[in-house]
Amino acid sequence: MTAKRARVKPWSGRFSMPTDANVERFTESVSFDQRLYHHDIMGSIAHVRMLARVRVLSRQESRRIIKGLQMIEKRIAAGRFNWQTRLEDVHMNIETALVEAIGEVGKKVHTGRSRNDQVATDLRLYLRDEIDSVTHLLVALMTALVAVAGREAATIMPGFTHMQAAQPVTFGHHMLAWYEMLKRDQQRLADCRKRVNILPLGAAALAGTSFPIDRNYTAKLLGFAGVAENSLDAVSDRDFAIEFCAAAALIMLHLSRFAEELVLWLSPQFGFIDIGDAWCTGSSIMPQKKNPDIPELVRGKTGRVYGDLLALLTLMKAQPLAYNRDNQEDKQALFDAIDTVKACLTVFTGMIPAVEVKAEVLHKAALKGYATATDLADYLVRKGVSFRDAHAVVGAVVKYAIDQNKDLPALSLRELRRFSRKIGADVHPYLELTGSVQARDHIGGTAPARVRQAVRSAQRYLKALRKQ
Ligand code: ARG
Repeated sequence: MTAKRARVKPWSGRFSMPTDANVERFTESVSFDQRLYHHDIMGSIAHVRMLARVRVLSRQESRRIIKGLQMIEKRIAAGRFNWQTRLEDVHMNIETALVEAIGEVGKKVHTGRSRNDQVATDLRLYLRDEIDSVTHLLVALMTALVAVAGREAATIMPGFTHMQAAQPVTFGHHMLAWYEMLKRDQQRLADCRKRVNILPLGAAALAGTSFPIDRNYTAKLLGFAGVAENSLDAVSDRDFAIEFCAAAALIMLHLSRFAEELVLWLSPQFGFIDIGDAWCTGSSIMPQKKNPDIPELVRGKTGRVYGDLLALLTLMKAQPLAYNRDNQEDKQALFDAIDTVKACLTVFTGMIPAVEVKAEVLHKAALKGYATATDLADYLVRKGVSFRDAHAVVGAVVKYAIDQNKDLPALSLRELRRFSRKIGADVHPYLELTGSVQARDHIGGTAPARVRQAVRSAQRYLKALRKQ
């Protein structure tokens, strides 16, 4: 029994004692790295095809191995595969199953390769696909936001600084601010993907292999854009995974900020929006409550993804070259970041069309807080007053309006002229919200016409992305 157990490990030749059961449990990764099975098999098939091409394996050997691997993949996909902890990880589970299925020739799959370059390859193949899925979800959210922006291009709301109404903006403009952030996130992922898309296979354990391998051929088969140029680096660094987690952390940061606004806006104190019942939950004790649980959970989950990033940064920081077992710990953090960001993007995108914009409430809120005071100052500047002096005049006007309990547009020309003789009969449109937003008519400005233009340009951008 003892001897049999010891022989189960592909590396057991040098060992005379079986692995302690606690060690087996402690060192295994198959419970979580089995999700790499498809990419592991894909990598093995490409490796074997390359070995046949350089005549390290015969055509027949390679064909038998590939058929065996394909059969195993089907079994795993169908849930008919028996994952074994004592076989440590996804790689050894599949290799063992291969030998069981096709006999001795199966052992040749590992020629000129090590689990070190194998796992680095699997992870890159897997992450490349996941980057594409996350990008897809991001694009869906961006599309949903652009639709709202187009619909609400002329809807006026208060824009805030220091959480106080500052100047009127359009709701569409506000939505496009989130769009811009997500666009940078999408571009960051595209950039990260370039560095993920490099083949480590061929680095073997750390020093390369003495077989006459053709790494460019393997890279081509797997769709990698290039080959890792240094074997020590190829098997050890996980900076590509860290980069992804950093990009994911920024996506979460943006979603979390957005979520924070939705929570505030849904509160009765603001009442700026409603969110469809299907996307909210109730309270088990307070019957009147309708809670924004999705934004709150997204905000909460942001911390997890930051944690994943920090875990990977810390995992890497003290590792000497080349591969160390520490790196097995890269997976759960990476997987968690991927799963979390995908789940958050999915619910967020679903929720956006259920957000009902309360245009009247927004308009009233924009009137509060003397949001067109800057417009009055700009008006005076156009009449030749310096901005500093104009600022002082308008300050006095606002103080007066507060005392009178009036909004700026409600002040009569006579009242206004008490503060400056430069104020003329043409002033009132400048004090109105519509005039204020329309005046900000330049690239990046909040004028409805500009927002519509930005919406069109965003639609073109998204269309081009979808075609890629
Ligand atoms: N499960 C291991 C990992 O995830 C695979 C590589 C193992 N290599 C080794 N030398 N023990 O990193």
